[in-house]
Amino acid sequence: MIKVPFGRPDITNREIKSVIKVLKKPILAHGPLSNKFEKLFAKFTGSKFATSVSSCTAGMHLFYLANNIKKGDEVIVTSQSHVSTAHSISITGAKPVFVDCNSYNGTIDVKKIQGNITKKTKAISLVHHLGNPSDVINILKIAKKFNLLVLEDCATALGARINKKHVGNFGNAGVFSFYPIKHMTTGEGGMVISNDKKIIDKINKLKAFGVNRSYLNRRIPGEYDANLLGLNYRMNEISATIGIEQIKRFPKFLAIRKKNYNYLISKITKKKNFDIVKFNNNNFHGSYYCLCIIINDKKLDRLEIIKQLNKKGVGTSIYYPKPIPEMSYYKNKYGYSSSKFRNAEKFSYRSIALPLGTHLKKKDLDLIANSINKVI
Ligand SMILES: Cc1ncc(COP(=O)(O)O)c(C=O)c1O
Repeated sequence: MIKVPFGRPDITNREIKSVIKVLKKPILAHGPLSNKFEKLFAKFTGSKFATSVSSCTAGMHLFYLANNIKKGDEVIVTSQSHVSTAHSISITGAKPVFVDCNSYNGTIDVKKIQGNITKKTKAISLVHHLGNPSDVINILKIAKKFNLLVLEDCATALGARINKKHVGNFGNAGVFSFYPIKHMTTGEGGMVISNDKKIIDKINKLKAFGVNRSYLNRRIPGEYDANLLGLNYRMNEISATIGIEQIKRFPKFLAIRKKNYNYLISKITKKKNFDIVKFNNNNFHGSYYCLCIIINDKKLDRLEIIKQLNKKGVGTSIYYPKPIPEMSYYKNKYGYSSSKFRNAEKFSYRSIALPLGTHLKKKDLDLIANSINKVI
């Protein structure tokens, strides 16, 4: 039986009371709370603009639509991520061109980007994997040289910074996820940040059917015209009010995750048969999404280790179950050879993700550390 789950949303009376307050009012969508949440989020990340969306996937899809990425175009994308990172490209008709990750923190291998750029390439999609910042500064140099857009998938990277600048502010836009086990939650939800007003204005239209007047700008109810092909990817007011409470508490969440990580590191007896992914490297500061260990002794069976950790009550996860190009949809469509994604395979098939969230008590942390010391 799992005693310590991998992730658990941190919901207090503050969130609960705010939801009840919203439910007692008549406005459940298009309301002022999503705008308030956007302002608070922009302030926290130091971004000029933010727009709330129904998920990170929706936000990434909107970014490509807003930039007219379509069939015939190519987007360079890391092979080590949630399938959402590539699906949000494919759904536009464009082709995701997969690049392996590096061997140490699972972010896109910058050295392999340039060789995959063709005349059709329009953008680079990078992921701050498990909250570890990608080498976005060098990626921007390549993007500039080839006139490419850069999208930062920040789904697991709220709180990650490079030289004090929050991730998501380096490329043309950054997109965050508020899925329940992320750093903070809104049930389901996401946020796009950008310092480019044109991108945010376009996304604001596309996320609401492509209509020309937002609800708050109509002279009479129901007055609008649709001058763009859009979707309904908005965040509702119930999610937004949870988000407002969560972003206010977020600095504390991050501090607890960091403390949990440092405590676990101090208690785990380092052995040669596994590595622990580090979060801080010079000016790169990660967001402590999870404790990622990589089993490097080929004789050890990862599945067996996970089963034994779970048996001791320790919840685990894997990020991600396969490199994206090896997921059936992509394998059937493009037939990539697996030898191209050796580092992504290492993360997918040899790593184990352990909890760092705010739900952990000292006895839980001791259970995790002792279990690792015994099992591996
Ligand atoms: C790196 C990454 N990108 C995108 C997503 C998708 O986020 P959402 O569920 O908010 O669409 C996830 C979800 O776990 C993720 O880990």
